[in-house]
Amino acid sequence: MSILGIETSCDETACAVVADGKQVLSNVVASQVKIHSPYGGVVPELASRAHISNIVPVMDEAVKEAGVKLSEITAIAVTIGPGLIGSLLVGLEFAKALCFALDKPLIGVHHLAAHLYSIFLDEDSLEYPYLGLVVSGGHTSLIIADSPVKYREVGQTLDDAAGEAYDKVAKLLQLGYPGGPIIDKLAKDGNPHRINFPRPHLTSGDFNFSFSGLKTAVVHYVQEQGLEKIKSDPCWLSDLCASFQQAVIDSLLVKTEQAARHFALQRLGITGGVAANRQLRQEALNRFAGWQLRIPPLKYCTDNAAMVAAIGYHLFLAKKIIPLSTNAYSRIKIDQLIPSD
Ligand code: KG4
Ligand code: ZN
Repeated sequence: MSILGIETSCDETACAVVADGKQVLSNVVASQVKIHSPYGGVVPELASRAHISNIVPVMDEAVKEAGVKLSEITAIAVTIGPGLIGSLLVGLEFAKALCFALDKPLIGVHHLAAHLYSIFLDEDSLEYPYLGLVVSGGHTSLIIADSPVKYREVGQTLDDAAGEAYDKVAKLLQLGYPGGPIIDKLAKDGNPHRINFPRPHLTSGDFNFSFSGLKTAVVHYVQEQGLEKIKSDPCWLSDLCASFQQAVIDSLLVKTEQAARHFALQRLGITGGVAANRQLRQEALNRFAGWQLRIPPLKYCTDNAAMVAAIGYHLFLAKKIIPLSTNAYSRIKIDQLIPSD
């Protein structure tokens, strides 16, 4: 059974065809990095316009590459929230038009459920329930996945998402956009112990995160030391990036471990754009050695439609078909969108 997935929640226009919720037949992503990088962040209006120009060619390519005809697709799964409303609407309205024209069922997907499910793409399976950390530009959440269609969020960021902190620090250091991969690379040769940045909220007793204090600490440090001076010394810049990155990773992994122990779950999935981070992947493997840990390959960490099509398969099996009058949601909780009836 093949599902066409469509993802336009932020700044990637993506379409994919996935068979039986697992086998990726195609996975096409049109990145908008060039459009947004001069602004140091995503400009919503520009993102929506780019989705409009990209969506048809991206879908054509995904279907062609998969070697299927549109008429052979069983259902169309599309991200309907959370995300940028103008961007979400492009994908959703396009999916509705296709469903109407082809007489196919429409499946609405929560963006975080799609990220959580990315651990199953082309990979060994993991038994349910598992604890998922979704860590991206828009989200940092700890979610217990009880099944592909049942989720409980147990923690989230109280302010900035981890990826957002990366992007803001990179902007402050005038390094470019998106900040994650750039800081990841610079941090590789740096000393993570040179600057002792705070790890806020670690002893709060809950499973929430906070990254705005860390971001502010980097702002103060750069103001005190001077950006020009730091950037003129490549070692200093690398040390700063490594120290910031270490603080982010410590926060993410300590909280994940606290939650895993509290809920007695030794099965973990780490997903989302920040899960592409080289050091986060390595430290997670070390910290959770002996546990069952899945981190998807890089192409399934950042936004893609393969994860949307894959979770769409399970929603289809669970008969979670939505009407063509459905709306998109800029903010919506995972258990609100997939009520466990
Ligand atoms: O999942 P994603 O593509 O979009 C959202 O749903 O937000 O995540 C994008 C985020 C950006 O903030 C980007 O800086 C971050 O993921 N990112 C990384 C790395 N690659 C992407 N952060 C740290 N290290 C990386 N290697
Ligand atoms: Zn995402």
